[in-house]
Amino acid sequence: MPDSRDLAAAEAAVRGAAETAFRRPAEPGSESSTPVLALAAAERLGAPPALLPDLDDVRRAAERIAPYARRTPVLTSSTLDRLCGARLFFKCESFQKGGAFKFRGAANTVLSLAAEAAARGVVTHSSGNHGAALALAAALRGVPARVVMPRDAARVKRAAVSGYGAEIVDCGPTAASRAAVCARLVEETGATLVHPYDDARVIAGQGTAALELLAEVPALDLVVVPVGGGGLAAGTGIAVAGVSPSTVVVGAEPAVADDAARSLAAGRLLANPPGPLATLADGLRASLAPRTFAALSRHLEGVVTVSEAEILGALRLVWERMKIVIEPSAAVPVAALLSGAAQATAAAGERGPWPRVGVILSGGNVDLDRLDWTAAAPAGER
Ligand SMILES: Cc1ncc(COP(=O)(O)O)c(C=O)c1O
Repeated sequence: MPDSRDLAAAEAAVRGAAETAFRRPAEPGSESSTPVLALAAAERLGAPPALLPDLDDVRRAAERIAPYARRTPVLTSSTLDRLCGARLFFKCESFQKGGAFKFRGAANTVLSLAAEAAARGVVTHSSGNHGAALALAAALRGVPARVVMPRDAARVKRAAVSGYGAEIVDCGPTAASRAAVCARLVEETGATLVHPYDDARVIAGQGTAALELLAEVPALDLVVVPVGGGGLAAGTGIAVAGVSPSTVVVGAEPAVADDAARSLAAGRLLANPPGPLATLADGLRASLAPRTFAALSRHLEGVVTVSEAEILGALRLVWERMKIVIEPSAAVPVAALLSGAAQATAAAGERGPWPRVGVILSGGNVDLDRLDWTAAAPAGER
């Protein structure tokens, strides 16, 4: 095992380097070599490989997961087009295996492990879609998965994870407790820790949704993507920049979890406040990591925020008009288009009327018992 002080030092170096050196370099090739050195150190010490994937990594991920992942449909809605003043193309990851795009990153990671590492299994600490996705990906490869979850996690989430065959390992309600239990499991079993977003293999996998979208709907002016820890947005940004450089990517997040908007505006990594964040979009509560901050700084035009009422309104509209079940996190980019904020950030109007916009509808795992529609006006009353 690497010395934990060395690993901490390498991680700190990667963090510092990512914060300072990855802010949109003025000229290609003008960035400092520090991240590369820090990264090499981190990799030697057992950190996940490569700071960020490139387009080739996303393409390889697409090939790797193709036999297992669904090629999700792209749907349209003339009502939503009219309300947003754009032609919208919805990439429906709610129909992905496990009900969210998360399967893409989890499957790419599990399938890219060498046989010996895979046999020791995988571990993660996400109680949401990533935990279930990793459980599913591990089951497909026939390797053990352990998912660390707080004892008080929603019953439906625990059921999803154990239903896919993973072992649930209890932890306390704090981040420190989760991290300690994960570290112990890695130490005891030699399993690979698969972070929900701070991992190049996961990011490459998440980028495959945008790759499919662009293959099916070329010449998009704008792609709007939800941002939590930033893995989906990072992969989307990398894929779009590689395949369709003139397409702008804009992120969307809840106003009460606006770390990405603040981080991009400040040019340095800023976290959400500690403690529970009062947003319906439970997949978007995480803060960016250095790795995802680096990718978003390079590839996103900006990140816009939406209110809770806007999220609920957008959720209701998609359910009512498109007849598809999406979860609140997936409604966030729709809310950012309904308010016009996403189009304004992308200066999409300058491309002419009715810009062509891709929207990643990221998942459909809604907890119906907890959903309260009363704050959302019916579509006809807006
Ligand atoms: C449905 C859904 N959308 C979006 C996200 C955000 O993804 P990321 O953390 O990669 O930004 C998540 C994360 O859990 C999610 O479950």
